[in-house]
Order: sequence, then C-alpha cells, then structure tokens
Amino acid sequence: MAANRVCEIFGIEHPILLAGMGGASTPALAAAVSEAGGLGILGAAACGPKMLREWIDEVRSLTDKPFGVDTLLPASVRREGGGGNADGPSPMDLLPEHMKFAEEFMKKEGLTPPTKEQLAEHMGASGRAPGEPQFLTKEFFDAQMQVVIEEKVPVYAAGLGNPGPWMEDMHRNGTKVMAVVGAVRHAVQVVSSGIDVIVAQGHDGGGHNSPIGTLALIPQVVDAVGGPNGIPVLGAGGIVDGRGVAAALCLGAEGAWVGSAFLASEEAGIQPYQKQAIVDSTEEGTMVSRSVTGKPARIIRTKWAQAYVDAKMEPLPMPFQSMVSGQILASGQIAKRGDIAPGFAGQGIGMIRSVRPAREIFQDLVDGCKRAFDNAPHAV
Ligand SMILES: Cc1cc2nc3c(=O)[nH]c(=O)nc-3n(C[C@H](O)[C@H](O)[C@H](O)COP(=O)(O)O)c2cc1C
Repeated sequence: MAANRVCEIFGIEHPILLAGMGGASTPALAAAVSEAGGLGILGAAACGPKMLREWIDEVRSLTDKPFGVDTLLPASVRREGGGGNADGPSPMDLLPEHMKFAEEFMKKEGLTPPTKEQLAEHMGASGRAPGEPQFLTKEFFDAQMQVVIEEKVPVYAAGLGNPGPWMEDMHRNGTKVMAVVGAVRHAVQVVSSGIDVIVAQGHDGGGHNSPIGTLALIPQVVDAVGGPNGIPVLGAGGIVDGRGVAAALCLGAEGAWVGSAFLASEEAGIQPYQKQAIVDSTEEGTMVSRSVTGKPARIIRTKWAQAYVDAKMEPLPMPFQSMVSGQILASGQIAKRGDIAPGFAGQGIGMIRSVRPAREIFQDLVDGCKRAFDNAPHAV
C-alpha cells in the first residue's frame, strides 16, 4: 500500500489503524499493530488516570513507534452523584423496574449474581485506583484527558463526543487529534473544533453505532469535510480484510480504522470464549441494541438484548443502563457464557476464521488491499 497523508500525519507506513476498543485494544495489541507498520490505538475508555498512565508506559516499553489513546467523551453524562431528567420519569425512577427485569432474567438463565467486587470490576472499577472519579462521569473524563495531555501522547481519538475543549492543549503538545463520527453533521461539528483526522464509522461496525451504512456514510463524510482541501477521513465499520480497506479507499477515505478483525487476535484483551464466539459467527451473528450501555451498539447476538426486544421494553439511557446490564454481563463473563456476554463486534465477523497474531492480521489487510486493486481492472 502506498503511503499517503494519513501516513505522514501519524508517521506510519500503512494507513491502517487499530480501532480503540475498550478493554480489547490493550498495550500488547496496540504495540503489535504499530510495530507492523500501522497505528495501534489503546482502548482506554474504562481506564482511570492511574491505569491509563500505566498503559501508556507499557505501550512505550513495547514499541518506539507512534500509538494513540481512545476514550469516550459522551455529551450526556452526569456529574458524580447527579443524574435525572427534566421531563417525565427520570432514568433513576425507572431503574428499580429494570433491575427487577434483570434479576428475573438472571434467574431464568441460571446465572449466579456477581459478588460486589465482581460487579465493581465489570463496571470499570478495575480500571480505577481508590479515590479516582466514578466511571462515566464528567470528572472521570476530565481526569483521563489530563493524563492524555500530561503524557503528550502522539495521537488521541474521541470515540464519542467532541474533544474541542482539550484541543489547544493537545495541539500544543504535538498530539494529533481524531474523532469517530457516524453522521455528516457530527463530522462538521468536530472539524470546526480543529480535529486533524475523522473516522467515519458506519452501521456495519462493532460497538457504538451509526444508523447509516458504511458504504453510504464514508463518501458523504468525505464530500462534507474531506478531499484534497479538507481533512483526511478514515473509513470504519465492517472492514475485516484487505477488500474492505480497498473499498474504503475507493469511497474517498484515506485509510481504515479496523476493530473487529483484531478482536480475534492473540493479543486482544477479551476472553478466549469471546474470541471463539467471533470465529463461530456468521454475517448474521450481530445485532444493534441499547441493552448494554444505553446507546445503540452493535453486539454479538445475546439473549439479554433479545429479552428487551421480546418484552418490548426500551433500555435506559447512558449511563443508567450500565447499572442494569452490569450484573448480567459480569455474571455472563464469569460463567463464560457466549449466549449472554459475547461482547461488541461488527458485521464483518462472518469473515473471521481463526484467532491469529495481530501482526499476521495486519499483513493480510495490507496484502489483501493490494490484491483487491490489482484485480479491480478486470472487473470493469
Ligand atoms: C469490542 C469493541 C469495543 C469497542 N469499544 C470502543 C471504545 O471504547 N471506543 C471507541 O471509540 N470505539 C469503540 N468501538 C468501536 C471501534 O472503535 C470501531 O469504530 C469499530 O470496531 C469499527 O467497526 P468494525 O468492528 O466492524 O471494524 C468498539 C468496538 C468493538 C468491537
């Protein structure tokens, strides 16, 4: 693959980035992708400040190459101890009903309730040192951003929200700043904050999810903010092999942000049963649900998400739904239940056949992209 301005901006060989995937994109995985010639991005969404600094130190000890940090900056979060809604019943009022729904589900599925410690660990407490702010609060995000700034990381990516308030500090440090968007209007918003690179992530992708399909989203974001006079756009969502990378480039993207393909890597920080669920999956193996975090997210099909569909119930908004789903996912993970807690993943997982070293997956993305272009002239 030829180097382009994405390679220049990040100082990398190939314009393929490991997507920040909370907990899954570990220092070992990020370093492996950076070493292979791409850009490894740490999935640090749940890391408190202490753990985030440790992850940054670890990735720096594993590679001299550039890397990045991805966190979430959702616009609608509570202050510590806060929460509530001006109109109608607040999510806090609805919480008991949803907790009861979760308890009944656990009984039906034979799941053992997690201990307080197990639940706390699942809810992100394992990423936080004593005294650090609670996960999914404004104070937590502020503390993470402080570390990003102090550590002068090469690249920062906002998985949700707008990093505008920290832009000046990051740019002063030479940090390149990216944002993941799922709609043209979000792209326009973050560009006006001075973002360096945009990721257009379509409906096919794993994790928090856009309603717009990848094939339609990428060129529309490129037309709005990209092109030779705009900023580089990376394509994301359902890109699992080199054909997908080539397709994103054909749509005007200047690189790819790849998540699920690296979930089935030896280095990914998910459990072996979750990697197996990916290998076993077909193209029909995922669904979009708010049952995990309260925001629409693409997950491997689970009985928990289906229970909400069957009961015709709407999950609570972020961050309240995590209080409901936390116990289900913690007990599902402890019991290694692929039908309860398989995790986030994109629609491309039907193409994944085995768990491999990240370096091998990366090289296949590069070689497959070249092959796709070599074959293209014969198609027209
Ligand atoms: C397991 C998993 C966890 C994710 N966690 C995050 C996250 O913490 N922050 C973020 O920006 N995006 C997150 N995402 C979305 C990815 O960054 C990326 O946009 C997505 O994986 C691209 O689609 P693909 O999985 O089809 O490659 C996650 C995705 C997956 C599959």
